[in-house]
Amino acid sequence: MSDSNQELRVSKIKNGTVIDHIAAGQALNVLAILGIDGSGGEEVSVGMNVPSDRLGRKDIVKVEGRELSPAEVDVLSLIAPAASINIVREYDVVEKSRVTRPEVVTGILSCPNANCISTEGEPVESRFDVLDDAVRCGYCDTILREDLAEHIATD
Ligand code: CTP
Ligand code: ZN
Repeated sequence: MSDSNQELRVSKIKNGTVIDHIAAGQALNVLAILGIDGSGGEEVSVGMNVPSDRLGRKDIVKVEGRELSPAEVDVLSLIAPAASINIVREYDVVEKSRVTRPEVVTGILSCPNANCISTEGEPVESRFDVLDDAVRCGYCDTILREDLAEHIATD
């Protein structure tokens, strides 16, 4: 219950997902990955730089009425490697997992290389190999290291 003081800041949700233990400063990138900018009417609470025993400071995102897909969790792991995903139903945490870094992410990031086969309008799903500190396009070897959230495919 070390996080109990921050629980007072961001109220509990009824059904949905709590993404906890996000590195401080990454909450808005997490929202970008989830495609949440407020315009869709989703009920979202964000805590930034809240105290955490484990991380010193952390961000936390609570999304009412939405359970994350495995593909979304995969990309989250790239910018929030310490995050825990809590699925909440009827106010109870029914599932808790730590994100794990996948070896490959497909269909979520888009390659910035305009000549890449994955961006030329071909029905080719983007594919990036996950390296220690970056991701690399599986088709053209373009490396993305920073600001991954800016390369999230919008459909
Ligand atoms: N939570 C929530 N709404 C609920 C239930 C839980 O927003 N109805 C949030 C809690 O505030 C907490 C996270 O989901 O940030 C995980 O909840 P819980 O497992 O109860 O807390 P802890 O045991 O402190 O979690 P951990 O061990 O992962 O730090
Ligand atoms: Zn490419």
